[in-house]
Amino acid sequence: MSHASDVRLTEEERAMLAGEAGPAVRKAMEIVVALARIYGARHLVPVESVQVAGVSYKNLGDAGLQFLREWADEGARARVPAFLNPAGMDLQRWKELGIPEDFARAQAAVIEAYTRMGIAPSLTCTPYYIGLRPAFGSHVAWSESSAVSFANSVLGARTNREGGPSALAAAIAGRTGAYSLHLDENRRATCLIEVRAPVRSIADIGALGALAGELVRDGVPYFRGLDLSWTRRPEEALKALGAAMAASGAVALYHVEGVTPEAGLPEILPADVRVLTIHDLTAGYQKLNGPLEEIDLVSLGCPHASLEELGEVARFLAGRHVRTRLWITTARQVREQAERAGIVAQIEAAGGQVVADTCVIVAPVELLGVRSLATNSAKAALYARSHSGLETRFGTTEQCLEAALTGRWRGP
Ligand code: F3S
Repeated sequence: MSHASDVRLTEEERAMLAGEAGPAVRKAMEIVVALARIYGARHLVPVESVQVAGVSYKNLGDAGLQFLREWADEGARARVPAFLNPAGMDLQRWKELGIPEDFARAQAAVIEAYTRMGIAPSLTCTPYYIGLRPAFGSHVAWSESSAVSFANSVLGARTNREGGPSALAAAIAGRTGAYSLHLDENRRATCLIEVRAPVRSIADIGALGALAGELVRDGVPYFRGLDLSWTRRPEEALKALGAAMAASGAVALYHVEGVTPEAGLPEILPADVRVLTIHDLTAGYQKLNGPLEEIDLVSLGCPHASLEELGEVARFLAGRHVRTRLWITTARQVREQAERAGIVAQIEAAGGQVVADTCVIVAPVELLGVRSLATNSAKAALYARSHSGLETRFGTTEQCLEAALTGRWRGP
């Protein structure tokens, strides 16, 4: 080991930083080391996988595309398995969805630049549904905030909330700084949340997460009293909880007593921690709902839907037909499984669309004439307003599907 300022680097790392592995690797190492220094890391840590956000042309624009092309031209290549977050369109059905041709062309160029760098175009925020489930304790560098939360909290892997460029740098360097959530001491709870409100649905979980994220900001909440016995698929509830807290706050790790893998570790819940009690979810629902009645688009699958969630939608819609647009967004591989199981055909027969590679937030829905959205996702409800200027309704999966059938929102 030798020293580059306060961050200890191995001989190999020093050589990479000095440009001996080429300019693309040097640039990646400069970013990784600069961040390590800013956040007080003492050394770097190899990462097993990288999930890269910043894929939609809607967010990148031409400047972002140019940046990616230049890095790829310099010879940048991922050293570890790396995967892309959703893009701004379904790569196969963009025309059907009404995506403008020039957007589609620019989006394809973004994906081409990433694939040249060896980043797999998985285009999903739920890589854990397509076989990428980092082991407990393993170090990764993921960037989509709900995926980060899932990897840390549900799987017990270790990642900070990387930005798009920092995740890409980690992929090219194969490492990241050993700071923040890579270290034991920062994985302890900063606050205990006593849940006294009844939680019985994915929507309730989202409302709880919206409240908790606002209270905790970027802390590490420890939930006590959160009963998940109402669902046979608790991972879907945890996925929704993490996504909501990452959107309303900046929570990247949480623990649920008796459920998540680190919740039972000694010292995870310090004795002097702040205690908050949530008695009622009404304020969470209010935060996510506008006064809107007419719905243009109903969107489920934020984070991307599991095969079982797609199956549930298909069963609900059997023999019925929707009046609004209905998108259920998912990973392409999950869509293909659903296709084989006949689920896609059932949803399409009812007029819905199983949309892969993208989602309602990163797709340019405002260009499709969409003004109002109903969703069962707290994250989508929050971001649809801020990212796309949509009016939103938020409720249970059943309420959303009813709205798709009638074109109107019923209920509180
Ligand atoms: Fe995923 Fe898009 Fe939601 S990236 S978490 S579906 S906003």
